[in-house]
Amino acid sequence: MNIWAVANQKGGVGKTTTSVTLAGHLAQRGQRVLLIDIDPHGSMTTYFGMEPDAPGASVYSLFKAASEGRVLSPMRIIHPTAFESISLMPAATALATLDRQLGKQDGMGLVLKRALATLTDQFDAVIIDCPPILGVTMVNALAAAHFLLIPVQTEFLALKGLERMLRTLTMVQRSRQFRLEYLIVPTMYDQRTRASRDTLQTLRDQYFGTVWTDIIPIDTLFREASRLGKPLSFLQPECRGSLAYAALLDWLTPRQHHADTTPPLGAEMDLRHDTPSSSSVDRTRVVEEVSR
Ligand SMILES: Nc1ncnc2c1ncn2[C@@H]1O[C@H](COP(=O)(O)OP(=O)(O)O)[C@@H](O)[C@H]1O
Ligand SMILES: [Mg+2]
Repeated sequence: MNIWAVANQKGGVGKTTTSVTLAGHLAQRGQRVLLIDIDPHGSMTTYFGMEPDAPGASVYSLFKAASEGRVLSPMRIIHPTAFESISLMPAATALATLDRQLGKQDGMGLVLKRALATLTDQFDAVIIDCPPILGVTMVNALAAAHFLLIPVQTEFLALKGLERMLRTLTMVQRSRQFRLEYLIVPTMYDQRTRASRDTLQTLRDQYFGTVWTDIIPIDTLFREASRLGKPLSFLQPECRGSLAYAALLDWLTPRQHHADTTPPLGAEMDLRHDTPSSSSVDRTRVVEEVSR
């Protein structure tokens, strides 16, 4: 089972689109896919017709149970979607309160990794759609993932989000003592605009070796796919947006990371001491920085 996290500390860069579109292609290639939505906004949850405001079993229940020392089978919070091979662990708006509730509690950094360890026979691929804010859930996603995809919108403001994301990754890796390989994926590329062309060039110059050699083009069909609640590959498999993600998957597939470089399950993580957002002051700073 391959576990990928899709993260960037900036909103609107294509994280949810990347997660959903890759899931569509994986499913069409015969893989059993689990999508995990850990963003309190719940865009991916809404995408598949579920309501993040509704009470019910969600990723939040998993963290809540762990914090209370209860065991909750992850299968109880996994829901089918309209697409046979795609299952969803939905988000809940309440996820936004997790940091306040659990930030000071020991051992909350491996909740997701532990849950996923029980699902290796059920799924071939897991994709975690992250929130743009550093907190307990993002730390969990980075700790659970075998590989990180960082979508970056090809416009200048987006480079700041990328810098923050890479700083976060460095801090989390250092405190957790593991290495997570990543790939920067240029998204929403519009070759007619100078901003897109220049940003792509800057990305390739500054982050040489970690930027995908191709791009995800701007394609209005992504919005249409989202409106209809379908991965784009199910709506228009041959459109350029869908083909671009198929090419990304072709790039990723031979490089799939079965080798588990993430922290061992026994390694207890103390979110009080070593998370960059450990104190409430720090967290406020991080949140402010992210929202600037
Ligand atoms: N390649 C693209 N071309 C055109 N629109 C896109 C593309 N990727 C994403 N979008 C649209 O941009 C918006 C933000 O994308 P989304 O994936 O939700 O970003 P994030 O999850 O990072 O906040 C959505 O309306 C989505 O449909
Ligand atoms: Mg999103």
